[in-house]
Amino acid sequence: MQDNINFIYLHIPFCLKKCNYCAFCSYPLLNYENIYIDKLEEEINHFYQNNPIETLYFGGGTPSLLNIKNIERLINKFNFKKNPEITLEMNPFNISKEKVKNLKNIGINRISLGVQSFNDDILKAIGRNHSKKDIFNTIDYLNKAGFENFSIDLIYGLPNQDINNWKNTLNTALLLNPKHISLYGLKIEKGTYFYKNPPKNIADNDIQAFMYELAMEKLSESYSHYEFAAFAKDENYFSRHNLCYWKRKNYFGFGLSASGFIENKRYTNTFNFKKYLEKPTKKDYTILSKCQEIEEEIFLGLRLADGIEFEKYEKNKDFKAKFEKYISLGFMEKIENKIKLTKKGILVSNEILCDFIEA
Ligand SMILES: C[S@@+](CC[C@H](N)C(=O)[O-])C[C@H]1O[C@@H](n2cnc3c(N)ncnc32)[C@H](O)[C@@H]1O
Ligand code: SF4
Repeated sequence: MQDNINFIYLHIPFCLKKCNYCAFCSYPLLNYENIYIDKLEEEINHFYQNNPIETLYFGGGTPSLLNIKNIERLINKFNFKKNPEITLEMNPFNISKEKVKNLKNIGINRISLGVQSFNDDILKAIGRNHSKKDIFNTIDYLNKAGFENFSIDLIYGLPNQDINNWKNTLNTALLLNPKHISLYGLKIEKGTYFYKNPPKNIADNDIQAFMYELAMEKLSESYSHYEFAAFAKDENYFSRHNLCYWKRKNYFGFGLSASGFIENKRYTNTFNFKKYLEKPTKKDYTILSKCQEIEEEIFLGLRLADGIEFEKYEKNKDFKAKFEKYISLGFMEKIENKIKLTKKGILVSNEILCDFIEA
């Protein structure tokens, strides 16, 4: 039954300090590291049946804070197919040359680095605990250790970030030449510092859309824009792990707040640290209806440059009418058997995708 679960996410819920915009499940509780890893292992042992996997993803929080022995211990829990992708999210704060070398030696082969901005004033305003110099040092260590495949995360629409500053961010990113770039528009999420203390001087929706358009133009010259938020040098550097989410493949998520998708059932683990330590194997599943399944397929599939297969959905007259409407408005296009969002459509994708969820 588990032969088709090829993708595994491990959530590492530790951060030294919470960034002002961040609603991810993380706490400054690094003194619980060993206890948490024991519990994570208990959850893995309970569900994972030793089938070889294709991708392993350490997400967070800040997995790069973990002791190297604990990361190695977790990697060793799994059997892998040939050429697996093993990603670890890294924050540039306090990263040493040795840490980077050790990560490479234990089998991590892809790093996702949280850069956000190259401007020290902006980094400070969003509550990051590292400087521009820390970012450059970390990238230098990654290159020297032979981490050919690393990705950087950037956010647009940050406080005091004007168009010129965003252009400079993109130019710096291009100079650093990572194999992959992920771009996110700032979202003010409930429960964050910014939610309670709204930052002044942030871009409105129109300016955010303009920043995104600018990024698409600049990055598309040397990167493949394979998903809304993701750019890669070529298909060898597409995030295989994230593609599994967008293509609705089965995956296990282990750890606090992690979610999984197995044979049309979804689950999300508790966000409560104490409850997780008490019973790390507890899962409540939600079975998706046929209609939810199709909505998800369209919602996620349209994020991809490849688009979705028209024939599969044209029998549903509501969906067909919506596709036709968006094609006539220039927001979608049909190429051979595929329906895709056009560049104009990508800029208003939130509205379009929501329309399919409510079909
Ligand atoms: C789990 S974090 C990545 C790794 C690491 N924790 C770090 O921040 O360096 C995932 C990414 O989501 C993005 N992100 C998180 N919250 C966001 C928000 N409210 N608005 C926009 N982007 C956000 C950031 O680019 C962040 O790097
Ligand atoms: S953005 Fe990353 S480093 Fe900052 S609080 Fe969130 S998970 Fe932690």
